[in-house]
Amino acid sequence: MQTPADGEPLSSRQTAGNRKGAVLVTGGAGYIGSHILKAVEESGRAAVAFDDLSHGFQEACAWGEFVQGDIRDTPALIAAIERHEVVAVIHLAGLIEVGRSTVRPDLFWDQNVQGTASVVAAMRATGARRLVFSSSAAVYGADPRGRRSDLLAEDNPKDPASPYGDTKLAAERMIAAACAAFGLSAIALRYFNAAGADPSGRLGEAHHPETHLIPLTIQAALGRRGPLTVFGNDFETPDGTCLRDYIHVVDLAAAHVAALEATLEPGEFDAVNVGTGRGHSVFEVIAAVERALNRPVPRTIGPRRAGDPPSLVADPGRAAARLGWTPRSSGLDEIVASAARWHANPLYGEQGSGAPARPSVRQA
Ligand code: UFG
Repeated sequence: MQTPADGEPLSSRQTAGNRKGAVLVTGGAGYIGSHILKAVEESGRAAVAFDDLSHGFQEACAWGEFVQGDIRDTPALIAAIERHEVVAVIHLAGLIEVGRSTVRPDLFWDQNVQGTASVVAAMRATGARRLVFSSSAAVYGADPRGRRSDLLAEDNPKDPASPYGDTKLAAERMIAAACAAFGLSAIALRYFNAAGADPSGRLGEAHHPETHLIPLTIQAALGRRGPLTVFGNDFETPDGTCLRDYIHVVDLAAAHVAALEATLEPGEFDAVNVGTGRGHSVFEVIAAVERALNRPVPRTIGPRRAGDPPSLVADPGRAAARLGWTPRSSGLDEIVASAARWHANPLYGEQGSGAPARPSVRQA
């Protein structure tokens, strides 16, 4: 395969057909990954989803190619990278449920940390030199002491409140060391609260089980599940419910493309928040859903959920400076309206219906 020289800008690398170099997206069949496939293809690069379908949906891989595989299978990763002449990897595959990570931390260390080690090993063995890693605001932890302001900047203390956050931080550190040792370059994107859906209606959020606030609130309003439980209304916030920084999944996908194209020296690693700098409370989300659907959200007030920090809002400054990225579609009403459109007619996941796979989606 073509092996680009270290330090050559990613944007100058070409593969057959004069397209820019291909990108492997691990976890490409998942909620965020599927939106990234579209953004990568629209940026002029070929996207190749690599996913074991344990949580994702092949129907979600509506853009690019599809390869079924487990990230811990390094030879399978190497084969996919070589076959598709991949020059960069966006690594999302991993376990995400914070609550489950407290019950089965072993699975999270295996998937999220060992899995990342396998991705790095496959990159070392091939010509793929740029890595964009799916990290999380969960690396910062719940304790506000030591924070410099209400907005979380990247250099704030790292003290994860869950094994999930521990594994994301460990994977970041492994990647940073691998960059220094092996000449890779990488950006870890620390996601805040990804939400919303592609405006086409072709892609959207589908988790089993669903634990995220916006889909649960919409499904409660649509009568597809019982009342929403608000996890605590006695936090030290303006209305007593938790503040979160909701980022439209389309903006989040664009941040990955910006991270692919960012100028980095071989050996360089950076971590960048992906958020808006604005927090919205649980009650504000409920009100936005009621506006979007023009119907009430049945809800009850329950106890706090373990490990929920009162406020998690990004300082988005470094993303603008480092990646030239700012959110464009992340107003709460726009996010909720796009999510509501998807949940009115989900093409896969929610009801297990599943749209037929696109004919051009091939399994390698
Ligand atoms: N919430 C409710 N009721 C519900 C579900 C959620 O009140 O049924 C509240 C939560 O308490 C929280 C807010 O809605 O205050 C958002 O909760 P989500 O579960 O949607 O999202 P989290 O902020 O808990 O988690 C997100 C990602 C995680 C990531 C974390 C980083 O989903 O993967 O941000 O802090 F680790």
